Amino acid sequence: MANMRILMFLWITTNMVQPSIFHAEEVQVFPPVNFTLTVSALAEVFLHWKPNPNQEPNNYTIRYDVEIITPVPEEYDTKKTHSFRTAVLHNGFSARVRTLLLVDDVERKSAWVSGELKPPPGDPETSVTNLSCSNYVNIYNTVSLHCTWLPGKGAPEDTEYFLFYRYKTYTEECQDYIKDKLDRNIECRFPRTHIDPEEVDDLIIIHINGSSKYTAIKPIQQLFNQNAIEKVNVPRNVTVFLQQNDLLAKWEKPISSFPKECFEYEFYLCNLKSGHKQIMKVSSNDFRLRIDVTCRYSIQIRANHYICRKRGFWSDWSEILYVGENKQENSIAWFLALLCVSSCSIALLVAVTCKINHVWSKLFPPIPTPRNKFKDSYSNGYERARTCTSETETELGSFAEDFCSSILEDSVF
Ligand SMILES: *[C@@H]1O[C@H](CO)[C@@H](O)[C@H](O)[C@H]1NC(C)=O
Ligand SMILES: *[C@@H]1O[C@H](CO)[C@@H](O)[C@H](O)[C@H]1NC(C)=O
Ligand SMILES: *[C@@H]1O[C@H](CO)[C@@H](O)[C@H](O)[C@H]1NC(C)=O
Ligand SMILES: *[C@@H]1O[C@H](CO)[C@@H](O)[C@H](O)[C@H]1NC(C)=O
Ligand SMILES: *[C@@H]1O[C@H](CO)[C@@H](O)[C@H](O)[C@H]1NC(C)=O
Repeated sequence: MANMRILMFLWITTNMVQPSIFHAEEVQVFPPVNFTLTVSALAEVFLHWKPNPNQEPNNYTIRYDVEIITPVPEEYDTKKTHSFRTAVLHNGFSARVRTLLLVDDVERKSAWVSGELKPPPGDPETSVTNLSCSNYVNIYNTVSLHCTWLPGKGAPEDTEYFLFYRYKTYTEECQDYIKDKLDRNIECRFPRTHIDPEEVDDLIIIHINGSSKYTAIKPIQQLFNQNAIEKVNVPRNVTVFLQQNDLLAKWEKPISSFPKECFEYEFYLCNLKSGHKQIMKVSSNDFRLRIDVTCRYSIQIRANHYICRKRGFWSDWSEILYVGENKQENSIAWFLALLCVSSCSIALLVAVTCKINHVWSKLFPPIPTPRNKFKDSYSNGYERARTCTSETETELGSFAEDFCSSILEDSVF
């Protein structure tokens, strides 16, 4: 027993630990042993340790204090002797653990024991950059995933990148890459994934590593909240119509497993006459607005979820719908009328000219009449001018539409 005490004392002093003295009885608190970190999945660490065999059993409540130091500081305590943590590991991982002893509601702490995972080899410049991902829910309630990235500045030309995603316990490598000019993978699509569209705030882990003949390619990991990178689907069955002086619009929520209440919409209205545009936020599935019914409007709607979860990426805009006076048809009708009038007048002119020619040719020998030529060119010129006017009008109309859509593109994201 005395030997044991001496041994313990030696062990403690070599570990720079002061044994804790408690009350009259000596209660010593020893740090856990065999603290080990292992990578259990992509961006997942399994931390485990053993109770110190020298810890006196066992009237006391033993807990463990765990502190994650890098990459993201975190502190928690647990009764267990293991835990799992999700974290990006490309810059390594370090943590420490100590024993907590609760004696008569007083907490005593042991020294820390530390553990570390070294970063994987490779120059950080060889890692991909500008990784961005999005997912969307398909019609069959499956989820697709799409990621893009740029090759690292320090990556040799022969670098091949590989992308993996992990969702909960499921890990899969990309099978469908898109390459750049140098034949390096820079984009990946998963038409179907194990991502559950009904889950909230679960993580999608992306891991991209690579290989090259010349150097080690440093892997990179990124964690994405599944809802925050969801590209929301477009609102469905959008209808717009006029009711007296009001514009009425209705639509259905996008394809999604979230209920209707989770969505908000942006309603885009562009006056094609003036080019005046408005974007209004709407949280219901219909909308009424007083408008100037003598103008033609283009309407588009897009959706996002936000109340029930993190906001995702705004959906694309719905197809353009128009209400109000149909300018395009009007100008076509106007053009047709003009064409009709001008061809009628040409016919008339020709008939009159022929008649005059006929009479004149009877009175005089046939000679070319410069007056006719003048008349012809006059009528042609006249017709062209009118055509221009109507073209100009049409162009103005489509200019307003271009103006509307260009503003729209600017305001996306
Ligand atoms: C700690 O690890 C060592 C060697 O790996 C082993 O011999 C020892 O039994 C372990 N201690 C405990 C308490 O499991
Ligand atoms: C447990 O604690 C009580 C007092 O809190 C003490 O009387 C008893 O001896 C302890 N038992 C052991 C096995 O340490
Ligand atoms: C990549 O990301 C950097 C910093 O985030 C940014 O400045 C740069 O414009 C991005 N490059 C491209 C091509 O998107
Ligand atoms: C890339 O990562 C995957 C998953 O961890 C691993 O199986 C594979 O061997 C790695 N490839 C390279 C080239 O490091
Ligand atoms: C959209 O309209 C079509 C046909 O009118 C209908 O079959 C479908 O159920 C509607 N979709 C939604 C989401 O209401």
